[in-house]
Amino acid sequence: MARLMICLLLIAAAAVQGRHEKYEGHQLYYVAGSPADITALEASLDIISMTPSSRSDSGKLEALVRLAPEEKQQWLKYFDDNKMSYTKFADNLADILRQEDQDIMKSRARASRNGRDMSWDTYYRHAEINDYIDKIGEEYPELVTVINAGLSYEGRQIKYLRISTTRFENLRKPVIVIDAAVHAREWVTPPVALYIINQLVVDIVDRRLTEEIDWVIIPLVNPDGYEYSMDEDRMWRKTRSRAHANSNACPGVDGNRNFDHYWGTSPASANPCSIIYEGPSAFSEPEIRVVRDAVLRQLDRTALYISLHSFGNMFLYAWGHNGTLPSNGLFLHLVGVRMAMAIDELALDTAPPYVVGNAAAILYFTTGTSRDWTRAVGIPLTYTLELPGYEYGFLVPPTYVEQIVTETWAGIATGAHLVLELL
Ligand SMILES: *[C@@H]1O[C@H](CO)[C@@H](O)[C@H](O)[C@H]1NC(C)=O
Repeated sequence: MARLMICLLLIAAAAVQGRHEKYEGHQLYYVAGSPADITALEASLDIISMTPSSRSDSGKLEALVRLAPEEKQQWLKYFDDNKMSYTKFADNLADILRQEDQDIMKSRARASRNGRDMSWDTYYRHAEINDYIDKIGEEYPELVTVINAGLSYEGRQIKYLRISTTRFENLRKPVIVIDAAVHAREWVTPPVALYIINQLVVDIVDRRLTEEIDWVIIPLVNPDGYEYSMDEDRMWRKTRSRAHANSNACPGVDGNRNFDHYWGTSPASANPCSIIYEGPSAFSEPEIRVVRDAVLRQLDRTALYISLHSFGNMFLYAWGHNGTLPSNGLFLHLVGVRMAMAIDELALDTAPPYVVGNAAAILYFTTGTSRDWTRAVGIPLTYTLELPGYEYGFLVPPTYVEQIVTETWAGIATGAHLVLELL
């Protein structure tokens, strides 16, 4: 028996080992450069994050990039030749990923001892999240309707919740729409969406927010990519579709480039092998059509849309495709700042304060994003919210989940109150 156990453990360990082998020796570097410099990298490198440079040289961006051992020398020379400064951040990505596996295994063991429905200190599989959504629907039928919105490319059910004390029949109420995990590897985003559901429906921490607002919450937009990032490739960001040219070599589409707003106008997003590939057509991805249809259903009274991403401590607003401000730019900024302040008040000392601004001014030009599309179809307040990554990036250890969900809820609640006061 003991021998069998050891055997099983070894097999499990080998499986874990093998999964991250492809990142053995991959190093992570912070690279600083002009927006044009950084954008030029995007077609050929895995850009893990992008933030305004923390150093004084304003106007520069800092990207966290992954360099494979065989390409490292060539890229460092490229950075030197182009006068882009860089510093090494991590020596071996595979080691970091193995450590993350252990942290998550421990957190799962803790959570199951805990015995509650959802623990805010671990990550869950797509099936578990769907079960939880169904359970909320069964327990709170007066308040919650679960929508089976359609299947992902690989056939997984995408579910979302409509939360309303008046069954979405009071047409004077504003609506808030929130989505999460459009990008597969940003694991901390579904817990934030689920926690918002918990605060509104289970704990009812602020009754006014459900009595006077209707909510639409999509906790896991991209289940195929999410599961793939758990089982096969931790760095996976896109969907898993294979409906485009060269999709055998390069499956998947960047969901946050697939919306129909200036879609197809950015050369960097046209290459199927790019991490920011926009897809063969706007709304080509079934997962993104779920978001589109959930948004359009009560568009005329939707006041606020937030897409949860990880990471970088930022509220980004339109227009990301040309860098100008929408007509209500000042209002967008003001509400963003108030949400950011509410989060910063609860944030860890080690977290940088939130940055609020136009997506293109703060970062760089992007097309086909949900933030720009939702603004263009008429929602007044729309944001990409980049959650904190601390020093881990989107590999946020499960012990930080509770901090992130709690502080982010404070920001969302502030935004909801502003919707009631100002709109
Ligand atoms: C920027 O894009 C917005 C929305 O697509 C448009 O209304 C505006 O005219 C554009 N501004 C410029 C300077 O092109």
